[in-house]
Amino acid sequence: MTSKQRVLSGMRPTGKLHLGNYLGALDNWVRLQEEYDCFYFVASWHALTTDAENSGQAPDSTIEMLADWLGAGLDPQRSTLFIQSLVPEHAELHLLFSMVTPLGWLERVPTYKEMVEQLGLESPSYGLLGYPLLQAADILMYKPQWVPVGIDQVPHVELTREVARRFNNTWKPVFPEPGAKLTEIPKVPGTDGRKMSKSLGNAILLSDTPEEITAKVKPMMTDPARKRRSDPGTPGLCPVFDLHKIFTPDAPRDACATGCRTAGIGCLDCKAVLLTHMLPPLAGIRERRERFAAKPREIVEILHEGSRRAREFAKKTMDEVRAVINLEPK
Ligand code: TRP
Ligand code: SF4
Repeated sequence: MTSKQRVLSGMRPTGKLHLGNYLGALDNWVRLQEEYDCFYFVASWHALTTDAENSGQAPDSTIEMLADWLGAGLDPQRSTLFIQSLVPEHAELHLLFSMVTPLGWLERVPTYKEMVEQLGLESPSYGLLGYPLLQAADILMYKPQWVPVGIDQVPHVELTREVARRFNNTWKPVFPEPGAKLTEIPKVPGTDGRKMSKSLGNAILLSDTPEEITAKVKPMMTDPARKRRSDPGTPGLCPVFDLHKIFTPDAPRDACATGCRTAGIGCLDCKAVLLTHMLPPLAGIRERRERFAAKPREIVEILHEGSRRAREFAKKTMDEVRAVINLEPK
């Protein structure tokens, strides 16, 4: 047993990841490995809450996503990487939590209301309403101190804490309350200046080659007020500059900003500087991810081994849970 604190987080199997996923979560997950005992999982059941009919894509999406996880530096020797649906104890714990969770707690969760509105759902499923409660089971199963998530997931961690309290008060104290470890997320615009998102078709993928990235950055949207080379621009209004803030060191970045404000450089010059700093680190990730993607059997083995380890942990938690609920004659 290690004495390190534990962290747990999960991602739905969405296939190939983009720069926004990397900078918003994955990069942070990789760094947390230095200090914590990490559990990271593929939220395969969560994907069904909005996309049940496309479940057939889950296996390939899982492999592609894992290639990105491993390419970015998640290390299966140090972290437990697993698939939710290979640890069916999560479903049992979800069921037991559902007995002590008022409906109102779930109806109030902002992501639920947003989903129902955004997708225009006329009769949202029981599973969609229960999504954050399944997440509470995912989390509490491993009794982590911390859950690294973005700001949008904070209400789910809050609910998790309430559920832990309710369980502990109803039966006996089993679950410590975890905290959200907020990921500092830089602004990651897509090539059209809107938030990077695969469905908007504006994403730079971790699997893109340097040539593909170059071809996406060259026509990228800039400060809309800078129409001609001779017009001065405002870096603060330019999505290319948001990428400079992520990749380019201070000195060359300041030089670009000055060149922009004085119309001393053109946008293509500015983008060329960005590419010099952006391509090498991304090429490193891509090369590693391609080596893994070429050996899907190895990825499957990593996930099976991680799921076996996760399940060992989950079984111990469920032994405690069953003991305090105490349903069967001994
Ligand atoms: N809801 C998370 C998301 O959409 C994914 C998730 C499922 C998760 N279970 C989790 C994240 C447990 C952290 C902990 O991104
Ligand atoms: Fe954006 Fe650079 Fe063009 Fe300025 S010079 S508008 S920062 S791309």
